[in-house]
Amino acid sequence: MNHNVRTIVFRCLDLLPDNVGRKMHHQLQNLLENKVLYVRIKRTENTFDEFVKICEAIKIDLNQKSIIEIGSGWLPIFPYFLLYLGKVKNVFSFDLNEHYQKKRIANFNSIFSKNYNTTIDALFNSKYNLPDGVHYYPGENIINSKIPDADIVVSRFVLEHVAPNDIFEMHQKLRNSLKKGTHIVHFISPSDHRAHGDITLSLQDFLKYSKPEWDAIQTKFDYHNRLRLPQYLDIFKSLGLEVVYLTFDTVKEGTAQYDLFKKVNIHSDYNSFSTEELTAGSINIVLKI
Ligand SMILES: C[S@@+](CC[C@H](N)C(=O)[O-])C[C@H]1O[C@@H](n2cnc3c(N)ncnc32)[C@H](O)[C@@H]1O
Repeated sequence: MNHNVRTIVFRCLDLLPDNVGRKMHHQLQNLLENKVLYVRIKRTENTFDEFVKICEAIKIDLNQKSIIEIGSGWLPIFPYFLLYLGKVKNVFSFDLNEHYQKKRIANFNSIFSKNYNTTIDALFNSKYNLPDGVHYYPGENIINSKIPDADIVVSRFVLEHVAPNDIFEMHQKLRNSLKKGTHIVHFISPSDHRAHGDITLSLQDFLKYSKPEWDAIQTKFDYHNRLRLPQYLDIFKSLGLEVVYLTFDTVKEGTAQYDLFKKVNIHSDYNSFSTEELTAGSINIVLKI
């Protein structure tokens, strides 16, 4: 959906009473999700491959481990890769919303088992058609949840949608609940998501707005904190978490993206950041408690 149309739709939904707006947003997302299932599976597989590479680099053995996923989204795609390809024992997946649906997961189970030549036995009493090993906690803010015993925490494209203070509280909670040495792996997309569907827009376009201006454009349905890499690092370091792995993309001179970036009149709030810090994208980071 064009980002201007999307913004208008979200702003209209935001005007409705909270429960009505959220319900309609859920239904709209539901329609859009069906269209992009194969693309979504492929992209999540790419993240899983990246995750495996990271684990190899820092010598984490996934076999029979228990993993907490923050932000389940619509389907247990990442949990299935962890379970069936990564051979982990348990995935505890938390989400603020209840997006999983029994029928949709039945369809996903058959697609995933065909694509990855595996057998998925949904538990007969599972409310969501989930197999043994995938534990879903919908309607749960991880900040206020009881944290299960786990070896690794992972999130994929979640942190950019979390308010800075909540990122702090989330990590404080994890640090205080999990054993020393536990790894927290985040895949973060700090770019302007409106640019993902519009190649004429810079991935840093939203940095031209002041905070009040950006807050007037975004809604609770597409919230993006716009944090730059050093701001994430400051939060993690303030909690004494060790950064044991970090990779990110930057926008290279001579590319179309660089030309687009150079045209953005970056707001003075971001004056203290270098070009590399402003454009750092696809952040893969591992923290150690
Ligand atoms: C953009 S979606 C990403 C979903 C999935 N990880 C993926 O890769 O498709 C972000 C999800 O994180 C969830 N989320 C955000 N903050 C959270 C929190 N504090 N606790 C649990 N879930 C959270 C949102 O409800 C949303 O479903």
